[in-house]
Amino acid sequence: MRLLAEKDLPTYQHSLRVGALCKRMAAYLHLDEQQTSQLVQGGCLHDIGKVGIPDGILNKTSPLTPGDWAFIRQHPEVGTTIMLEHGDVDKEIIEIIQYHHERWNGEGYPHGLKGYEIPVFARICAIIDTYDSMVSDRPYRRGLSFEEAEQELLRHSGTQFDSYYVDLFLNLFHTVGVNPISQELHE
Ligand SMILES: [Fe+2]
Repeated sequence: MRLLAEKDLPTYQHSLRVGALCKRMAAYLHLDEQQTSQLVQGGCLHDIGKVGIPDGILNKTSPLTPGDWAFIRQHPEVGTTIMLEHGDVDKEIIEIIQYHHERWNGEGYPHGLKGYEIPVFARICAIIDTYDSMVSDRPYRRGLSFEEAEQELLRHSGTQFDSYYVDLFLNLFHTVGVNPISQELHE
């Protein structure tokens, strides 16, 4: 995480928010302590492979070229390699890093896994990752409102995302309030 903070601060901050949301989701799903730790660690580390992307691509303000995208799309595999070199890391954590860009309909990357072939924590992380990216401000655009992000998740539910967990994730917000996370992060 320190490496990521030094390399790419916005991705580091996004990763912390994803980890915090994963913790909320784990509590909502009544996961046990070990599963909670795996989901949270995987959420925090899902984009760790971005440490391997050249700064010139990460910090680019002009539109990305197909070659840039090819580089960026390698980050799940790069992250997996980094974690495997780290030694004793739970398989469930590595699976989140490796598969968080897979899509329910098989149109994701890097492996084109489909439906239940995608490990469940990676399916959950994909929803939370996308949600946080949508509601976060970027230098070039303001983040979406919760209601707009909710509509986007529902629009891609059952195609990009596992609809079962989209519904649970949105229920979590409707149950505990729209934005309990940002306050927690400031504490
Ligand atoms: Fe990613």
